[in-house]
Order: sequence, then C-alpha cells, then structure tokens
Amino acid sequence: MQRNNNLKNMRSSYEQDQLLESNIDKNPFIQFTNWFEQVIKARIIDPNAMILATASKKGIPSARVVLLKDYDKTGFTFYTNYGSKKGKELTENPNASLLFWWKELERQIRIEGKIKKISKKESIEYFNLRPLKSRYGALASNQSEVVESREALEKKFSDLEKIFGDNPPMPENWGGYKLVPFKFEFWQGRQDRLHDRICYEKVKNDWKIYRLQP
Ligand SMILES: Cc1cc2nc3c(=O)[nH]c(=O)nc-3n(C[C@H](O)[C@H](O)[C@H](O)COP(=O)(O)O)c2cc1C
Repeated sequence: MQRNNNLKNMRSSYEQDQLLESNIDKNPFIQFTNWFEQVIKARIIDPNAMILATASKKGIPSARVVLLKDYDKTGFTFYTNYGSKKGKELTENPNASLLFWWKELERQIRIEGKIKKISKKESIEYFNLRPLKSRYGALASNQSEVVESREALEKKFSDLEKIFGDNPPMPENWGGYKLVPFKFEFWQGRQDRLHDRICYEKVKNDWKIYRLQP
C-alpha cells in the first residue's frame, strides 16, 4: 500500500466561535436545543445524524450512525431493529453514548446515558409516518443478520409488497429507543487546540457544570 504522507499535514484550525460559562444555559437540554437550532439554520446535511456507541456485556464496544428522531427533557430517541447488533448489545448492557460532530460549526456534543425502549404505541405512530418504501425496508430486513445475496433481500422486499400493499405492519422487533442522559459535553473548537469543553453531569436532580482541559 502506498504511504500517504499528507495525512500528517491534514489539520484544520478552529476559529469560528467560543463556548464560555457566561454564554451557556444551565440546563443541558436547552443548551442542546440552542446548538441544534443553529445547526438547522446552517443547513447542514443530515444534522440529526449521530454516532451511537454501545458495548456488549463483556465491554467490547461498537459504534454506528443513527438518526435522532425526537428529543425532549427526558431524552433522545432513535429507531432501529431490536434484534440488530446494537439491539442485542443494549439488551445486555443499557449504557450507551451519542455523539454529534457538526464540522461546519466546529462543534461536537457527547451524551452519555442509559437506554430504554419507548412504548410500542409511540413506535407505531412513528413507523406509520415513514415513507412507504422505508417501511418495507424495515420489514424486509433482519438487520445485522447475514443475507445470502442482494437479490434475496430485494425479492423479500417485493414479496412483502405484494402481501401488504399500502399498509405494511410495523415489524415486531422494530421500534424506538430513548437515551436518558446523565452526562453531556459540549465542545467548541478553538485556535491553537485550546478548545472549549463544557460538561454537565447529573447530581441528584441538578446538573453540575464544569470545564475540562482540551
Ligand atoms: C446517515 C445514516 C443514518 C442511519 N440511520 C439509521 C437509523 O436511524 N437506524 C438504524 O437502525 N440504522 C441507521 N443507519 C445504519 C446504521 O449505521 C447501521 O448500519 C445499522 O443500524 C446496523 O448497525 P448494527 O449492526 O450495529 O446494529 C444509518 C446509517 C447512516 C450512515
């Protein structure tokens, strides 16, 4: 393999903004909302894409992108297949973390918490809002299982379309998870690698706020 010497020179300088104790909200959910609204305004592609990290009960980690579909002061919700690798890991070990990296704003948010399933009723409501073909995608896929070929998957998709027409049911093993946070870190890139890192950690019913070294 040819060596890419340019990697050692690949770096950006972060200079757009700052995050100071004097300009944050005391509530991390409001701080999240403030940043998320700025991300929406900035018209970033897939602003709700976040990396979900889970771990098996032996502590072996895995990470993947999922889409944030809802949030409020109780937590952050995404949808998936409960039998997938992430689903199996979350059954064994409900500790998980979410990560947003919005490079256009030179910002990262890390959220740590425990995950629980949302109600079936809420999952069905969201499932029925999805585009028809996406509903079939969920129905046709035993997510994270080995499939013999692309053709086999497409055949299953079209066979199911013939059976269910315009009204596919939500698969039994599909639905939402909510991450209930106990820690947030808001990271704003700064010049000379002296980045701002402000953390919120839940202590009883309050959020303790502190700054970390970059
Ligand atoms: C932009 C983007 C958005 C995604 N959104 C989701 C999602 O909301 N839910 C989901 O289950 N997988 C989503 N995926 C696919 C996952 O990254 C992953 O491939 C899949 O969930 C299987 O992961 P697992 O085998 O670790 O369970 C998304 C991938 C990308 C790149």
